[in-house]
Formats: sequence, structure tokens, C-alpha cells
Amino acid sequence: MNEFLKVAIEIAREAGAVLREGFARPKNITYKGEVDLVTESDRRSEELVVSRLQKYFPDHGIVAEEGGGAAPRTKYCWHVDPLDGTTNFAHGYPCFAVSIGLAEDDKPIVGVVFNPVADELFTAVRGEGAFLNQKRIRVSRVEKLAQSLVATGFPTHLRKKSANMEYYWQFTLRTHGVRRDGSAALDLCSVASGRFDAYWEFGLNSWDTAAGVLLVEEAGGMVTDLAGQPYRLGGPSLISSNGGIHRELQQVAAGIAEHVAKQE
Ligand code: IPD
Ligand code: CA
Ligand code: CA
Repeated sequence: MNEFLKVAIEIAREAGAVLREGFARPKNITYKGEVDLVTESDRRSEELVVSRLQKYFPDHGIVAEEGGGAAPRTKYCWHVDPLDGTTNFAHGYPCFAVSIGLAEDDKPIVGVVFNPVADELFTAVRGEGAFLNQKRIRVSRVEKLAQSLVATGFPTHLRKKSANMEYYWQFTLRTHGVRRDGSAALDLCSVASGRFDAYWEFGLNSWDTAAGVLLVEEAGGMVTDLAGQPYRLGGPSLISSNGGIHRELQQVAAGIAEHVAKQE
């Protein structure tokens, strides 16, 4: 097995155990922003992941959400979300994960997302396919937006001026429905495993997406920005899909963007 993947799996499982344990106990919640929650488990999980990665790969950069990493300009950089879905976690809604992605020259090459409650481990290595609990996964075969189930999310820092409500509404009218599950990493894994046909969001960070975008691509799907350009880690918009509905999705999104721009 790829050495980077092996280590990422080991660490994601350990961090997952920390989260599972924290999930069963009363939560110690503090606020990073108006509704941007952080718990003791976010910090514990991050300490574990960062210290273990530093031990294994002292020359690699690490970007971690709670600030624990160090990201000098290195060829290899780990992007770590120690707890993706903190709001769900804090409210006892069991939809959250550890997300660990390794990028080489800013391009994801290894991705691991672990949901410790469902015991679902999503893994991918560039060029080697995507897996859920070691079984190969593929994106769905749906070819029409009108027959799709899609998902989105709303970052807390954009909640007062997000145009995404317009996208949410328009895509609700054009699909079987739009889900909002509260974990970007798991949303991407749901596209990779064919549970969702597409997922889009604005304002995501590299730690939310580094592992998930690789999973989608390795499962046969597509990831771009809103304009159809290649998605850049930490870029302002992300559209991921099974590929079959990507063009339609993007055309509708472009129409909505035009409408939103006229209103501003
Ligand atoms: C958030 C979740 C959420 C998404 C937000 C993210 P966090 O991450 O992934 O689904 O809509 O944009 O910030 O704060 O729970 O790690
Ligand atoms: Ca996140
Ligand atoms: Ca997080």
C-alpha cells in the first residue's frame, strides 16, 4: 500500500476514535465567530493528527483548520480538517468526519475521510481509484439534472451575504432535491460513492476539500469551479458531480450567477 495512504489511514482512525469518544460526552463548545463553533474534540483531534504527521513526515507542510500546522512552501503539504461537521457534532447529529488530504505541488494525491460513527473509511490515491471500506466506489450514472439528488452547504462566515440561497432555490426547482448535510468532506464522499449526484459550495477551505475532491475524481467524477475551470484548493467556488450532469449543472449555475449579479 502507498506509504502516505497507510499513515493517513492509521491517523484518521485514531482521530476518529477521539471524536467518537467526545461525541458520547457533554460537549465543551466555544465560538470562533458568531455561529462558528469549536469544541474540545476539534482541538484534541487536530493535536493528534498534526503531531503524528510531523513525526512521520518532518519535512512536509501541514495546513490544519485550528491553526496547529505549519505550512512552509514545501512540495508535499497535508490539509487537515480534524472535525468536519462541528455544528452537527456539537448538536449530537451524527454526521461528521476527519479529513486528511496530501497535496503534491498543490494537487491532491492522497485522500482519507473517516466517519467514525458510521465506521466508513473513504480512501483514494491519485491514479488508483476510490474506495469505501476497501471496496471500490464509483459516481452515479444519472445523466439529467432533473433526475438528480444534489447537496450544498453554507459556510458560517458567509451567512449574512451568501448568494447561495438563490442557487439553493433554483436547484431545488430543477432536481429531486437539495440536501444540506453539514460536512463538506462527507458531501464530496457522497458524490464519490453515488449517494449524491452533485455537490456545490462557496467559500470552502483547502482542509474541507483536499481529500474529498480526490475521492470524487478517482471515483470517475468531476470537480471544477463555478466557471468550469479546474478547481484550485481553497478557491472561492466548487462544483463536483458524477460528470454526466456537470455541464448542465454548470450552465444552470452560470445563469443563476448572472441573475444574482444583475440584482447586486
Ligand atoms: C464546515 C462544514 C459545512 C460547510 C462549511 C464548513 P466545519 O466545516 O463542512 O458543511 O458548509 O463550509 O466550514 O466548520 O464543520 O469544519
Ligand atoms: Ca470543515
Ligand atoms: Ca473543522
